[in-house]
Amino acid sequence: MKLQEQLALNKKEGKALLATNFYNFETLSAVLTAAKETNSSIILQLSESSIAYMGLEVATQLARAGIKQYGINAWLHLDHGNDVDLVKKCLDAGFDSVMIDASERPFEENIKITKEIVDYAKPLGANVEAELGYISKLGQEQKMIYTRPEEAKKFVEETGVNALAIAVGSAHGFYKETPKLQLDLIAEINEATTAALVLHGSSGIPHDQLQESIKRGITKINLATEIKNIFMKKLQLTLSESDEIDLRKVFPLATQSAIDLVRDKLNTVNFRA
Ligand code: 13P
Ligand code: ZN
Ligand code: NA
Repeated sequence: MKLQEQLALNKKEGKALLATNFYNFETLSAVLTAAKETNSSIILQLSESSIAYMGLEVATQLARAGIKQYGINAWLHLDHGNDVDLVKKCLDAGFDSVMIDASERPFEENIKITKEIVDYAKPLGANVEAELGYISKLGQEQKMIYTRPEEAKKFVEETGVNALAIAVGSAHGFYKETPKLQLDLIAEINEATTAALVLHGSSGIPHDQLQESIKRGITKINLATEIKNIFMKKLQLTLSESDEIDLRKVFPLATQSAIDLVRDKLNTVNFRA
């Protein structure tokens, strides 16, 4: 099933998919293993910086080969595409889905840029996600401009976008204080638009709030920082305790910690499956 069809179905049924970022072979194999163990479908996300790190060809083929080898139902998605040319390159390379993030631009410009990508993606059959409102980026001060339901309605109608990232109290990276998602606002936006809603910044959001957000209409849960964090913390610990130089013995311990994390998150997100 195409991702846009799955997300539309999720919206109807009140279910969600986990969307995990990967950075290298180890984190890719971690999310695929967790998906396999829980019999879950999953969205594999590449950020612009991960594409710059691995190169588009390697990053794309790694994901495709992984999906095939692990026998998982998964989709490849570009996370936070800012550069229109790169977004188009990813679509040309066969990505199932892309995010065009022009959320920092004025409303009308966001519409124009998003619509350009929707038009480009349509003949290719790809899903398009856009962002409306402002979800603070990693390393930035955590400011927040909530998404307004009436703007979301207009934005989705004018762009024809399938999926919409909304600002409802989450932020990228870890939180200084436990976040409090605006659950009523999620329900209002869900009611107002035909698009499937996406929750960004899920690292650090408590399990019960993730489930409540899904009950209100979130169909895609984006997780990145916690994966990087647990992988690197376990790697640091392992290296501080041993002189092992065979990376094929060291990395799997860090990979296992990421598997355990993603399995937990999948169990949280799949509670209605
Ligand atoms: P976190 O890094 O907070 O998990 O957010 C991930 C995200 O939104 C990727 O688009
Ligand atoms: Zn995000
Ligand atoms: Na977060």
